[in-house]
Amino acid sequence: VNDLSALIRDEILKHGPMRFSRFMELALYEPHLGYYRRDRDPFGRQGDFYTAEQLQPVFGRLMAVAVDMLDEELGCPEDFTVLELGAGRGEMANAFSNFRYIPVEVGHTDTLKLPESFNGVVFSNEFFDAQPVDLAVRSFDGWVERRVGVQGSELIFLPGPGVDETAAEYLAQYAAGDQQVVELHLKSIEQLRWITARLTKGFVLTVDYGYTARESIRFPQGSLMSYHRHQASEDVLKDPGDRDITSHVPFQVLEQEGKKLGLEKVRQETLAQFLISLGEESFIRAVEGGHELQLKTLLFGMGESFRVLLQEKTVG
Ligand SMILES: C[S@@+](CC[C@H](N)C(=O)[O-])C[C@H]1O[C@@H](n2cnc3c(N)ncnc32)[C@H](O)[C@@H]1O
Repeated sequence: VNDLSALIRDEILKHGPMRFSRFMELALYEPHLGYYRRDRDPFGRQGDFYTAEQLQPVFGRLMAVAVDMLDEELGCPEDFTVLELGAGRGEMANAFSNFRYIPVEVGHTDTLKLPESFNGVVFSNEFFDAQPVDLAVRSFDGWVERRVGVQGSELIFLPGPGVDETAAEYLAQYAAGDQQVVELHLKSIEQLRWITARLTKGFVLTVDYGYTARESIRFPQGSLMSYHRHQASEDVLKDPGDRDITSHVPFQVLEQEGKKLGLEKVRQETLAQFLISLGEESFIRAVEGGHELQLKTLLFGMGESFRVLLQEKTVG
Protein backbone atom coordinates (compact mmCIF):
# COMPACT_ATOMS: atom_id res chain seq x y z
CA VAL A 1 0.00 0.00 0.00
CA ASN A 2 1.55 3.31 -1.06
CA ASP A 3 1.05 6.67 0.69
CA LEU A 4 -1.67 7.74 -1.67
CA SER A 5 -3.64 4.50 -1.22
CA ALA A 6 -3.41 5.02 2.54
CA LEU A 7 -4.61 8.62 2.22
CA ILE A 8 -7.58 7.55 0.06
CA ARG A 9 -8.50 4.69 2.39
CA ASP A 10 -8.36 7.01 5.41
CA GLU A 11 -10.63 9.52 3.76
CA ILE A 12 -13.13 6.78 2.84
CA LEU A 13 -13.06 5.25 6.31
CA LYS A 14 -13.66 8.70 7.81
CA HIS A 15 -16.28 10.06 5.40
CA GLY A 16 -17.75 7.04 3.63
CA PRO A 17 -17.54 5.97 -0.01
CA MET A 18 -15.93 8.60 -2.20
CA ARG A 19 -17.14 10.20 -5.41
CA PHE A 20 -15.09 9.02 -8.35
CA SER A 21 -14.11 12.61 -9.21
CA ARG A 22 -12.56 12.95 -5.76
CA PHE A 23 -10.68 9.68 -6.26
CA MET A 24 -9.43 10.82 -9.67
CA GLU A 25 -8.45 14.24 -8.29
CA LEU A 26 -6.32 12.58 -5.60
CA ALA A 27 -4.92 9.86 -7.89
CA LEU A 28 -3.77 12.36 -10.54
CA TYR A 29 -3.26 15.69 -8.81
CA GLU A 30 -2.61 15.30 -5.06
CA PRO A 31 0.59 17.33 -4.43
CA HIS A 32 3.73 15.11 -4.40
CA LEU A 33 1.73 11.86 -4.64
CA GLY A 34 -0.68 12.21 -7.58
CA TYR A 35 0.29 10.80 -10.95
CA TYR A 36 0.94 14.25 -12.49
CA ARG A 37 2.49 15.69 -9.35
CA ARG A 38 5.31 13.23 -8.73
CA ASP A 39 8.93 13.71 -9.72
CA ARG A 40 8.90 10.96 -12.29
CA ASP A 41 8.13 11.90 -15.91
CA PRO A 42 5.01 10.06 -17.14
CA PHE A 43 5.55 10.89 -20.82
CA GLY A 44 7.52 9.10 -23.52
CA ARG A 45 9.33 5.81 -23.86
CA GLN A 46 10.32 5.42 -20.21
CA GLY A 47 6.94 6.69 -19.14
CA ASP A 48 3.43 5.42 -19.66
CA PHE A 49 2.12 6.94 -22.87
CA TYR A 50 2.84 9.14 -25.87
CA THR A 51 0.80 12.16 -26.87
CA ALA A 52 0.49 13.87 -30.26
CA GLU A 53 2.31 16.83 -28.73
CA GLN A 54 5.42 14.75 -28.36
CA LEU A 55 5.60 14.38 -32.12
CA GLN A 56 7.78 17.45 -32.46
CA PRO A 57 8.48 19.33 -34.58
CA VAL A 58 5.65 18.23 -36.90
CA PHE A 59 2.67 18.54 -34.55
CA GLY A 60 3.95 21.90 -33.30
CA ARG A 61 4.57 23.27 -36.79
CA LEU A 62 1.09 22.29 -37.98
CA MET A 63 -0.65 23.72 -34.92
CA ALA A 64 1.35 26.93 -35.34
CA VAL A 65 -0.01 27.19 -38.92
CA ALA A 66 -3.54 26.80 -37.55
CA VAL A 67 -2.94 29.41 -34.84
CA ASP A 68 -1.45 31.82 -37.40
CA MET A 69 -4.64 31.55 -39.45
CA LEU A 70 -6.75 32.26 -36.38
CA ASP A 71 -4.57 35.27 -35.50
CA GLU A 72 -5.21 36.66 -38.97
CA GLU A 73 -8.89 36.00 -38.69
CA LEU A 74 -8.94 38.09 -35.53
CA GLY A 75 -7.13 40.90 -37.37
CA CYS A 76 -3.82 40.27 -35.56
CA PRO A 77 -4.70 42.01 -32.27
CA GLU A 78 -1.70 43.41 -30.41
CA ASP A 79 -2.27 41.29 -27.30
CA PHE A 80 -2.79 38.06 -29.29
CA THR A 81 -2.07 35.28 -26.80
CA VAL A 82 -1.90 31.52 -26.98
CA LEU A 83 -2.86 30.05 -23.63
CA GLU A 84 -2.30 26.31 -23.38
CA LEU A 85 -4.28 24.29 -20.86
CA GLY A 86 -2.39 21.33 -19.40
CA ALA A 87 0.90 22.10 -21.13
CA GLY A 88 2.62 19.04 -19.62
CA ARG A 89 6.32 19.02 -20.47
CA GLY A 90 5.98 22.26 -22.43
CA GLU A 91 6.40 20.56 -25.79
CA MET A 92 4.62 23.39 -27.60
CA ALA A 93 6.84 26.20 -26.29
CA ASN A 94 9.05 26.21 -29.35
CA ALA A 95 6.20 25.93 -31.85
CA PHE A 96 4.35 28.85 -30.25
CA SER A 97 7.44 30.99 -29.64
CA ASN A 98 6.30 33.56 -32.23
CA PHE A 99 3.27 34.31 -30.12
CA ARG A 100 2.80 35.48 -26.56
CA TYR A 101 2.51 31.98 -25.12
CA ILE A 102 1.24 31.09 -21.65
CA PRO A 103 1.48 27.43 -20.63
CA VAL A 104 -0.85 26.47 -17.79
CA GLU A 105 0.10 23.42 -15.76
CA VAL A 106 -1.00 22.14 -12.36
CA GLY A 107 1.47 23.04 -9.66
CA HIS A 108 3.51 25.28 -12.02
CA THR A 109 1.10 28.03 -12.91
CA ASP A 110 -0.68 30.25 -10.45
CA THR A 111 -4.01 30.56 -12.25
CA LEU A 112 -4.79 33.67 -10.23
CA LYS A 113 -1.88 35.41 -11.95
CA LEU A 114 -3.15 34.66 -15.46
CA PRO A 115 -4.41 37.61 -17.53
CA GLU A 116 -7.91 38.65 -16.49
CA SER A 117 -8.76 39.10 -20.15
CA PHE A 118 -7.02 38.48 -23.45
CA ASN A 119 -7.58 38.03 -27.17
CA GLY A 120 -6.27 34.93 -28.85
CA VAL A 121 -6.45 31.16 -28.73
CA VAL A 122 -6.95 28.72 -25.87
CA PHE A 123 -5.19 25.59 -27.04
CA SER A 124 -5.15 22.17 -25.43
CA ASN A 125 -4.08 18.64 -26.26
CA GLU A 126 -5.35 15.82 -24.04
CA PHE A 127 -6.37 18.23 -21.30
CA PHE A 128 -10.08 17.43 -21.00
CA ASP A 129 -9.56 13.65 -20.98
CA ALA A 130 -7.51 14.10 -17.80
CA GLN A 131 -10.23 16.01 -15.91
CA PRO A 132 -11.84 14.22 -12.96
CA VAL A 133 -15.27 12.75 -13.75
CA ASP A 134 -18.10 11.43 -11.63
CA LEU A 135 -19.80 8.17 -12.53
CA ALA A 136 -23.51 7.47 -12.89
CA VAL A 137 -25.04 4.04 -13.37
CA ARG A 138 -28.49 3.31 -14.76
CA SER A 139 -30.68 1.31 -12.34
CA PHE A 140 -34.34 0.28 -12.13
CA ASP A 141 -34.99 3.32 -9.96
CA GLY A 142 -33.14 5.79 -12.16
CA TRP A 143 -29.53 6.98 -12.08
CA VAL A 144 -27.35 6.25 -9.07
CA GLU A 145 -23.77 7.29 -8.38
CA ARG A 146 -20.91 4.84 -8.57
CA ARG A 147 -18.58 5.51 -5.66
CA VAL A 148 -15.26 4.20 -4.42
CA GLY A 149 -15.21 2.16 -1.20
CA VAL A 150 -12.83 -0.04 0.74
CA GLN A 151 -12.94 -3.83 1.08
CA GLY A 152 -10.09 -5.25 3.12
CA SER A 153 -6.97 -3.82 1.53
CA GLU A 154 -8.64 -3.16 -1.83
CA LEU A 155 -10.43 -0.18 -3.28
CA ILE A 156 -13.68 -1.24 -4.93
CA PHE A 157 -16.62 0.31 -6.76
CA LEU A 158 -19.87 0.54 -4.78
CA PRO A 159 -23.34 1.71 -5.72
CA GLY A 160 -23.86 5.17 -4.23
CA PRO A 161 -26.93 7.33 -3.62
CA GLY A 162 -29.19 8.66 -6.36
CA VAL A 163 -27.54 11.38 -8.45
CA ASP A 164 -27.91 15.03 -7.43
CA GLU A 165 -29.76 17.66 -9.45
CA THR A 166 -26.75 18.85 -11.47
CA ALA A 167 -25.91 15.28 -12.47
CA ALA A 168 -29.55 14.54 -13.31
CA GLU A 169 -29.66 17.54 -15.65
CA TYR A 170 -26.41 16.47 -17.28
CA LEU A 171 -27.70 12.93 -17.79
CA ALA A 172 -31.04 14.11 -19.16
CA GLN A 173 -29.17 16.09 -21.77
CA TYR A 174 -26.26 13.84 -22.67
CA ALA A 175 -26.84 10.18 -21.72
CA ALA A 176 -27.67 8.05 -24.74
CA GLY A 177 -30.37 5.38 -24.38
CA ASP A 178 -27.93 2.47 -24.45
CA GLN A 179 -25.39 3.86 -21.99
CA GLN A 180 -25.39 1.98 -18.68
CA VAL A 181 -22.47 3.87 -17.14
CA VAL A 182 -21.89 7.53 -17.90
CA GLU A 183 -18.90 9.68 -17.02
CA LEU A 184 -19.98 13.14 -15.97
CA HIS A 185 -17.57 15.76 -17.28
CA LEU A 186 -18.63 18.47 -14.87
CA LYS A 187 -15.04 19.49 -14.16
CA SER A 188 -14.39 19.95 -17.88
CA ILE A 189 -17.39 22.29 -18.01
CA GLU A 190 -15.95 24.24 -15.07
CA GLN A 191 -12.63 24.57 -16.93
CA LEU A 192 -14.43 25.76 -20.05
CA ARG A 193 -16.29 28.33 -17.94
CA TRP A 194 -13.27 30.03 -16.38
CA ILE A 195 -11.35 30.09 -19.60
CA THR A 196 -14.26 31.52 -21.59
CA ALA A 197 -14.74 34.21 -18.97
CA ARG A 198 -11.18 35.44 -19.57
CA LEU A 199 -11.18 35.18 -23.35
CA THR A 200 -12.47 38.47 -24.73
CA LYS A 201 -12.36 37.58 -28.39
CA GLY A 202 -10.86 34.52 -29.98
CA PHE A 203 -10.92 30.79 -30.27
CA VAL A 204 -10.84 27.63 -28.19
CA LEU A 205 -8.93 24.93 -30.07
CA THR A 206 -9.28 21.53 -28.41
CA VAL A 207 -7.50 18.35 -29.49
CA ASP A 208 -8.47 15.25 -27.56
CA TYR A 209 -9.31 11.60 -27.49
CA GLY A 210 -13.07 11.47 -27.68
CA TYR A 211 -16.34 10.73 -29.36
CA THR A 212 -19.39 12.41 -30.83
CA ALA A 213 -22.98 11.96 -29.61
CA ARG A 214 -23.53 9.36 -32.32
CA GLU A 215 -20.43 7.41 -31.28
CA SER A 216 -21.43 7.19 -27.59
CA ILE A 217 -23.00 3.81 -28.45
CA ARG A 218 -19.42 2.48 -28.53
CA PHE A 219 -19.05 3.04 -24.78
CA PRO A 220 -22.11 1.51 -23.07
CA GLN A 221 -20.01 0.89 -19.93
CA GLY A 222 -18.14 4.19 -20.08
CA SER A 223 -14.63 4.81 -21.33
CA LEU A 224 -12.41 4.99 -18.23
CA MET A 225 -8.93 3.62 -18.79
CA SER A 226 -5.69 3.57 -16.91
CA TYR A 227 -2.21 3.50 -18.42
CA HIS A 228 0.98 2.19 -16.99
CA ARG A 229 4.14 1.62 -19.03
CA HIS A 230 2.20 1.69 -22.29
CA GLN A 231 -0.23 -0.98 -21.06
CA ALA A 232 -3.89 -0.02 -21.00
CA SER A 233 -6.12 -1.45 -18.29
CA GLU A 234 -9.73 -1.05 -17.24
CA ASP A 235 -8.77 -1.40 -13.60
CA VAL A 236 -8.65 2.28 -12.74
CA LEU A 237 -8.68 1.81 -8.96
CA LYS A 238 -5.42 -0.08 -8.87
CA ASP A 239 -2.22 1.59 -7.59
CA PRO A 240 -3.49 5.18 -7.40
CA GLY A 241 -0.74 7.64 -8.28
CA ASP A 242 1.20 5.08 -10.32
CA ARG A 243 -1.01 5.09 -13.38
CA ASP A 244 -2.69 7.62 -15.58
CA ILE A 245 -6.48 7.64 -15.65
CA THR A 246 -8.40 9.01 -18.62
CA SER A 247 -11.97 9.32 -19.78
CA HIS A 248 -12.74 9.92 -23.46
CA VAL A 249 -14.12 13.36 -24.08
CA PRO A 250 -17.77 13.58 -25.16
CA PHE A 251 -17.36 16.34 -27.72
CA GLN A 252 -21.06 17.20 -27.77
CA VAL A 253 -20.76 18.23 -24.11
CA LEU A 254 -17.94 20.69 -24.86
CA GLU A 255 -19.93 21.92 -27.86
CA GLN A 256 -23.30 22.36 -26.13
CA GLU A 257 -21.92 23.69 -22.86
CA GLY A 258 -19.61 25.99 -24.79
CA LYS A 259 -22.64 27.35 -26.59
CA LYS A 260 -24.29 28.24 -23.28
CA LEU A 261 -21.11 30.16 -22.38
CA GLY A 262 -20.96 32.09 -25.66
CA LEU A 263 -18.70 29.82 -27.70
CA GLU A 264 -19.96 29.05 -31.19
CA LYS A 265 -18.75 25.87 -32.83
CA VAL A 266 -16.75 26.62 -35.96
CA ARG A 267 -15.88 23.02 -36.77
CA GLN A 268 -15.56 19.61 -35.16
CA GLU A 269 -13.80 16.82 -36.99
CA THR A 270 -11.14 14.14 -36.72
CA LEU A 271 -7.53 15.21 -36.24
CA ALA A 272 -6.74 13.86 -39.71
CA GLN A 273 -9.46 16.00 -41.33
CA PHE A 274 -8.30 19.06 -39.41
CA LEU A 275 -4.66 18.60 -40.42
CA ILE A 276 -5.57 17.98 -44.06
CA SER A 277 -7.53 21.24 -44.09
CA LEU A 278 -4.29 23.12 -43.36
CA GLY A 279 -3.16 22.40 -46.92
CA GLU A 280 -0.46 20.45 -48.69
CA GLU A 281 2.06 23.25 -48.43
CA SER A 282 1.86 23.16 -44.64
CA PHE A 283 2.63 19.44 -44.78
CA ILE A 284 5.69 20.01 -46.92
CA ARG A 285 7.02 22.62 -44.51
CA ALA A 286 6.10 20.61 -41.44
CA VAL A 287 8.18 17.57 -42.43
CA GLU A 288 11.25 19.59 -43.45
CA GLY A 289 14.35 17.99 -42.01
CA GLY A 290 13.18 14.41 -42.56
CA HIS A 291 10.14 14.12 -40.28
CA GLU A 292 7.79 12.29 -42.64
CA LEU A 293 7.21 9.48 -40.15
CA GLN A 294 5.79 11.88 -37.57
CA LEU A 295 3.27 13.18 -40.09
CA LYS A 296 2.26 9.63 -40.95
CA THR A 297 1.75 8.80 -37.27
CA LEU A 298 -0.37 11.90 -36.79
CA LEU A 299 -2.53 11.23 -39.85
CA PHE A 300 -2.86 7.46 -39.74
CA GLY A 301 -1.98 6.46 -36.17
CA MET A 302 -3.83 9.16 -34.26
CA GLY A 303 -5.80 10.93 -36.96
CA GLU A 304 -9.04 8.96 -36.61
CA SER A 305 -9.21 8.48 -32.82
CA PHE A 306 -8.38 12.07 -31.93
CA ARG A 307 -10.82 14.85 -32.63
CA VAL A 308 -10.47 18.60 -32.96
CA LEU A 309 -13.07 21.10 -31.85
CA LEU A 310 -12.74 24.75 -32.83
CA GLN A 311 -15.03 27.20 -31.03
CA GLU A 312 -15.18 30.95 -31.39
CA LYS A 313 -16.05 33.59 -28.85
CA THR A 314 -17.18 36.69 -30.62
CA VAL A 315 -18.84 38.81 -27.95
CA GLY A 316 -16.60 40.23 -25.22
C1 LIG B 1 -2.44 13.89 -20.71
S1 LIG B 1 -1.49 15.22 -20.14
C2 LIG B 1 -1.19 16.12 -21.66
C3 LIG B 1 0.01 17.00 -21.63
C4 LIG B 1 0.36 17.70 -22.93
N1 LIG B 1 -0.70 18.59 -23.34
C5 LIG B 1 0.63 16.69 -24.04
O1 LIG B 1 -0.21 16.54 -24.92
O2 LIG B 1 1.70 16.05 -24.02
C6 LIG B 1 -2.65 16.24 -19.29
C7 LIG B 1 -2.01 17.42 -18.61
O3 LIG B 1 -3.02 18.32 -18.13
C8 LIG B 1 -2.61 18.81 -16.88
N2 LIG B 1 -3.79 19.33 -16.16
C9 LIG B 1 -4.86 18.64 -15.75
N3 LIG B 1 -5.74 19.42 -15.10
C10 LIG B 1 -5.21 20.66 -15.09
C11 LIG B 1 -5.63 21.91 -14.58
N4 LIG B 1 -6.78 22.05 -13.93
N5 LIG B 1 -4.83 22.98 -14.78
C12 LIG B 1 -3.66 22.86 -15.44
N6 LIG B 1 -3.20 21.70 -15.95
C13 LIG B 1 -3.95 20.61 -15.78
C14 LIG B 1 -1.98 17.59 -16.24
O4 LIG B 1 -1.17 17.89 -15.14
C15 LIG B 1 -1.18 17.01 -17.41
O5 LIG B 1 0.10 17.53 -17.52
